[in-house]
Amino acid sequence: MPRTAILGTGYHVPDRVVTNDDLTGFMETSDEWIRERTGIEERRWVKEGDTGAAMALAASRMALEEAGIEAGEVDAIVLATLSPDHFFPGTGVFLQRELGVGTIPALDIRAQCSGFVYGLSVADAWIRVGQYRTILLVGVEIQSTGLNLTTEGRDMAVLFGDGAGAAVLQATEDEGRGVLSTHIYSEGEHAEILWGDAPASWRHPRISPEDFEELRIYPSMTGREVFKHAVTRMPQAVQAALEANDLTAEEIDLLIPHQANLRISQMVQKRLRLRDDQVFNNIQRYGNTTAATIPIALAEAVREGRVERGDLLCFTAFGSGFTWGSALVRW
Ligand code: ACO
Repeated sequence: MPRTAILGTGYHVPDRVVTNDDLTGFMETSDEWIRERTGIEERRWVKEGDTGAAMALAASRMALEEAGIEAGEVDAIVLATLSPDHFFPGTGVFLQRELGVGTIPALDIRAQCSGFVYGLSVADAWIRVGQYRTILLVGVEIQSTGLNLTTEGRDMAVLFGDGAGAAVLQATEDEGRGVLSTHIYSEGEHAEILWGDAPASWRHPRISPEDFEELRIYPSMTGREVFKHAVTRMPQAVQAALEANDLTAEEIDLLIPHQANLRISQMVQKRLRLRDDQVFNNIQRYGNTTAATIPIALAEAVREGRVERGDLLCFTAFGSGFTWGSALVRW
């Protein structure tokens, strides 16, 4: 059976930088509060006219260039997002159109912050069984247009950013590299702890003035519950990956955790007893870009020379659903 190698990475973030101080113009908050609780210093937000598909395209082109692969060689697109440009169809088909490729499948993944790890799991399975050879895996998110930018929404609004990350995956016969395993999970019991209630297809109509008045159109969460589950589930998923491969945390060269909150990542690091040089964080500059955090961080880590051939990489994510998971990759 072939293995799945990551041959190229890419990312794109909007030009518009929004600092913590900028947010004080919309709501009662402070740079100090945001830095202390989340580690975030600034984030990127789209401007009028920017689309998720365009960001996905820019990230994909960078990843294809790094991989040395023409868009026409891609056999399938897997795109993770919780903020599609339209209710339907998914952003994947818009990316397929923009890339100018043939009638290849475009699968949108709805697993929120875990979308990239879920997508990697699906793409890896397709490659290992021989169904597709080259897959473009993308995480893209526009969070800023859906946030409540008043003091009432500040617990969520300060956390999120926009951006896209991409990875080009290809079958390899080289047993010394590739995806070693993926582990993905969900627990719908907690669906409402972190969610976007409206629009809701079961309501008549699916969006109404009451949804605006009662603030159902904005994402909401019970922050402390999310924190508690995140710092438990991500280390568990990493341990499951290590055990499945007969490896130890000491052997991880770089852990790229979902960038939810720097305090969450630090707790995950502590629970796994990892050194600072074994963990990559860039939430300080981008905030939480949901499905895009891991591929953006991976692309930056590659460009910063933090990843070398033969390194053991670990991705772990946790998010709304709850969903969570991990992946181990020999680079
Ligand atoms: N600025 C200033 N004050 C704020 C802000 C803000 N942006 N947000 C909340 N506060 C206030 C609250 O109103 C509250 O005030 P009060 O004491 O007068 O009532 C006070 O700060 C403390 O609020 P808490 O919600 O208890 O703050 P907490 O210490 O729990 O920190 C935080 C909040 C940072 C959101 C934390 O719960 C957390 O990190 N949770 C994890 C959630 C997360 O990271 N989600 C990301 C998305 S999910 C994912 O990707 C996994």
